Amino acid sequence: MEKKIIAVVGATGAQGGGLVRAILKDPQGGFGVRAITRDVNSDKAKALAALGAEVVAGDVDDISSLKRAFKGAYGVYCVTFYWAHFSPEKEIAEATAMAHAAKEAGVKHAIWSTFEDTRKWIPLSDNRMPTLMGKYKVAHFDAKSEADHVFTDLGVPTTFLLTSFYWENFIYFGAGPKKGPDGKLALTMPMDDKKLPSISSEDIGKCAYGIFKNGSEYIGKTVGIAGEHLTGFQMASALTKALGQEVKYNNVSPEVYRSFGFPGAEDMGNMFQFKRDFQQVYCGARSVEFSRKLNPALQTFEAWLKTNASRIPLE
Ligand SMILES: NC(=O)c1ccc[n+]([C@@H]2O[C@H](COP(=O)([O-])OP(=O)(O)OC[C@H]3O[C@@H](n4cnc5c(N)ncnc54)[C@H](OP(=O)(O)O)[C@@H]3O)[C@@H](O)[C@H]2O)c1
Repeated sequence: MEKKIIAVVGATGAQGGGLVRAILKDPQGGFGVRAITRDVNSDKAKALAALGAEVVAGDVDDISSLKRAFKGAYGVYCVTFYWAHFSPEKEIAEATAMAHAAKEAGVKHAIWSTFEDTRKWIPLSDNRMPTLMGKYKVAHFDAKSEADHVFTDLGVPTTFLLTSFYWENFIYFGAGPKKGPDGKLALTMPMDDKKLPSISSEDIGKCAYGIFKNGSEYIGKTVGIAGEHLTGFQMASALTKALGQEVKYNNVSPEVYRSFGFPGAEDMGNMFQFKRDFQQVYCGARSVEFSRKLNPALQTFEAWLKTNASRIPLE
């Protein structure tokens, strides 16, 4: 039987890479994978080809390349790269381009990796957090959500996937424990005692594969995923155990977090505040049980740490 091709944007990255590997690990599953990258000759692209993926060129800023890359695909995985440019408008344009390319290719199933529009709960007039760039509260959430309707308006059969904070941020995104003035490691997050849904990015790909495998069941639906819902205290305690040295939870206020000054600090500060202040909404949209149904191999934070703790850079 001919395999159903899933064309994956961001294939050399976290979410897309997880999906590519999930499909390749299941050769009897009936799916084939087309990995989309801007550079088919990069080491990461070559590694995917060596695993058995078809690797093709594509750039979310170039709609004609997306049309070529999506042609003949049964499904597409669409993701944008906010942290590569910090522009909500660019992110909306990229999602719009993917939706149009998916429509033209006549795909049977698109997964769009999106987020909530936080302004539904915290309108621009609400001064509990600053408005960013004149019209956003959490720019990288609100922009993704603003693009949802494009998929719907064009009639692209789409599943809207709400992802969660990656544990890999502790390795690559500078979000891991850092030594404080007392020389002790601390995990700094403005979450108070509230739970943060989080996940291994590899499991996002596996859950996405579960969505494709379920045929039309989740088309037209918004589904959320998480590996666990953990407080900062619980994360710090798991890190303490895995790293063999004490990690404290440094609960700062969102105001302090926003003032840290790294690129995107205000956006991240608002994001954590949204997750903290609307915990029921945010956790409620990301059931761990449902995620495990999509992906029975879903990891807990403790399990993820067993294989990844040694990769967390500790200055
Ligand atoms: N960090 C988190 O905790 C988290 C959690 C949930 C959601 N997110 C969202 O995840 C999104 C990023 O996804 P990710 O983490 O999977 O990405 P990633 O790992 O940072 O990068 C994925 C790949 O995207 C490709 N890429 C970058 N710009 C591109 C472009 N213009 N056209 C085509 N491909 C491009 C790059 O591949 P090539 O160089 O090979 O082209 C890169 O390897 C962000 O929008 C973020 O908001 C992040």
